[in-house]
Amino acid sequence: MTYLITGARGMLGRDVTAALRAAGHDVVPLGRDALDITRPSAVRSAFASLRPRTVVNCAAYTAVDAAEHDEPAAHRVNADGPRHLAETCAATGARLVHISTDYVFAGDADAPYAENAPTHPRTAYGRTKLAGEQAVLETLPETGTVLRTAWLYGAHGPNFVATMAGLASGDGPVDVVADQYGQPTWTADVAARIASLPPFPGVLHATCAGGTTWYGLAREVFTLLGADPDRVRPVTTVDIPRPTPRPANSTLAHARWAAVGLPPLRHWREALHAAWPALGLPGRTA
Ligand SMILES: NC(=O)c1ccc[n+]([C@@H]2O[C@H](COP(=O)([O-])OP(=O)(O)OC[C@H]3O[C@@H](n4cnc5c(N)ncnc54)[C@H](OP(=O)(O)O)[C@@H]3O)[C@@H](O)[C@H]2O)c1
Repeated sequence: MTYLITGARGMLGRDVTAALRAAGHDVVPLGRDALDITRPSAVRSAFASLRPRTVVNCAAYTAVDAAEHDEPAAHRVNADGPRHLAETCAATGARLVHISTDYVFAGDADAPYAENAPTHPRTAYGRTKLAGEQAVLETLPETGTVLRTAWLYGAHGPNFVATMAGLASGDGPVDVVADQYGQPTWTADVAARIASLPPFPGVLHATCAGGTTWYGLAREVFTLLGADPDRVRPVTTVDIPRPTPRPANSTLAHARWAAVGLPPLRHWREALHAAWPALGLPGRTA
């Protein structure tokens, strides 16, 4: 089975490529320079020459604040791109696994969001990602899978864990938001799940189990680095203004994995400890 990975040079795309290869699959990873998903003719010609049976779309406009100032640019990548991929999958019989985000939700619920919870994006990024989901599910009702994830960290891109590791190497206190909840999720865990995913039409939630705040995650990172976790100081969202609102609750529920015959992803702390040697950060190997 040939897998085509789009956005293959991104943080998730690189781990997806590695996981599929480790599982023995024939994989063609294409970065943006090799396949720009906003160009329908480029998508059609890639399918014609590669004849993929499954496409994993890791390409996205992920700059949340920049998207607020140029929603059309984000829409082209996050909504039009998946639509072009889905239409070409429909024409060729290929399956599509499309990566999405918790930002499709309002982020103000007091419990984890179920797969079928009402969406209500509060940001341009979230609106464009929701439009991409809808394009995939409408175009491929039998063969389109939307895999929502959140709070990703990994070895191949900027992320919160790497940022905290950089700050931990300095001195003094580090202020971290303690009133936003989420599920830190290792890109390699999502990638491994994609490599073992059977065909499944609809939405699945690929975030780690449990939950914490950015503050809780920062303390865990400091501890793994051998730094003093008490240097991390809890602050609130209003103390650190951002150009774009961040969700107070990013946690996703995982009930639908039962229908796929797979367990939910492991607990975020277990995953972070397992990830540590692969992240290229100093400190102890857990
Ligand atoms: N990171 C997170 O915490 C997080 C959370 C929830 C969901 N997600 C979702 O997870 C997926 C992967 O994100 P990531 O963290 O791996 O992001 P990333 O590192 O920014 O990777 C995205 C990749 O897409 C590429 N790309 C952008 N425009 C493209 C285009 N027109 N055609 C083809 N490729 C294009 C980018 O290339 P350039 O670098 O050249 O622009 C980049 O390599 C995305 O769908 C994202 O929405 C991420």
